[in-house]
Amino acid sequence: MGEKLLVLPGDGIGPEVVDVALKVIQKVANTRGVEIETDEALIGGIAIDETGDPLPPETLEKARNSDAILLGAVGGPKWDTTDPGARRPEEGLLGIRKGLGLFANLRPVTSYESLIKASPLRADIAQGIDLVVVRELTGGIYFGERGRRNGGNEAFDTCAYSKEEVERVVRAAFDMAQGRRKKLHSIDKANVLETSRLWREVVLEVAPDYPDVTLEHQLVDNAAMQLIRYPSQYDVLVTENLFGDILSDEAAMLTGSIGMLPSASLAESANPGRRLGLYEPVHGSAPDIAGTGKANPLATVLSCAMMFRYSFAMEDAAAQIDAAVDAVLDMGLRTPDIAPGADSGQQYTPAGTAEMGEALLKALS
Ligand code: IPM
Ligand code: MG
Repeated sequence: MGEKLLVLPGDGIGPEVVDVALKVIQKVANTRGVEIETDEALIGGIAIDETGDPLPPETLEKARNSDAILLGAVGGPKWDTTDPGARRPEEGLLGIRKGLGLFANLRPVTSYESLIKASPLRADIAQGIDLVVVRELTGGIYFGERGRRNGGNEAFDTCAYSKEEVERVVRAAFDMAQGRRKKLHSIDKANVLETSRLWREVVLEVAPDYPDVTLEHQLVDNAAMQLIRYPSQYDVLVTENLFGDILSDEAAMLTGSIGMLPSASLAESANPGRRLGLYEPVHGSAPDIAGTGKANPLATVLSCAMMFRYSFAMEDAAAQIDAAVDAVLDMGLRTPDIAPGADSGQQYTPAGTAEMGEALLKALS
């Protein structure tokens, strides 16, 4: 019995990075005699163009019947509008997260020794970062009631959380911390928001089940500052949907390029190695470089490593992919987003999406 993988290339550079990732997946699977059966479907802007719907029912149906989903990116200027009546590509992403119950979004950020110079931070601060943002993904202001009133002159978005929603993601974060350096920061805005006070209450209720994990509460504005000041203090951070969105982009920049950051969005499962998950790079569709062959495929490839780890229960395959990424970086290959600045005097080999892909396949054989 093989694994069923649904591929959603999406928009912009999505199809280009997914193409490399699929080759990596097949290579790793073939060498292990594992069968991965792939199917493809529409999401995002391309789905709006072809069907009028950013998440066609067929896509959601196929996703439900898969073991894992690989997504490129959604969105682009073509579909950007403030018209409240227009369909947006992002609805596809939000719809699939909600539709599949993908409540735990893991966004690991690690510093690569070979990329320290690409970080906007001083090397002494950028070194030794190894953190995971665990972002709640199916609740909060993203999914609350919203609308316009007063003849359209007033708008509102509502943030709501239930105890159950908080508890499951907080437990996922404690579990993660237990398997790592046993430090958890819970990020909220409990000095202002009622949802944050509920969040804190739930965290305190759950904490006694994890006596070996050191817990610290941090207000989100302080966390935004601490992430730049002293990022290596963090192991696991857990936070609600919107805070997680913002902090994970901030954290992404610590190591130099958002082009390196993978993510996993996981559903509940009794078996931690066999969870339904959606895997995607943290970066977006980068319409400015789409079609130029310059996109960095490494974030998507690293997302595939997470897929083997969390959905296919194949830790060795995950480790092999992680090592292949290390190897191509050590060889000096750099797409433009991770190339050292002209003034750095560092030697490197400029590479495009395809060259990165070929080097990865060699590193895997
Ligand atoms: C992300 C993105 C999405 C989000 C957008 C595209 C809807 O920014 O995955 O972080 O806000 O969740
Ligand atoms: Mg975001």
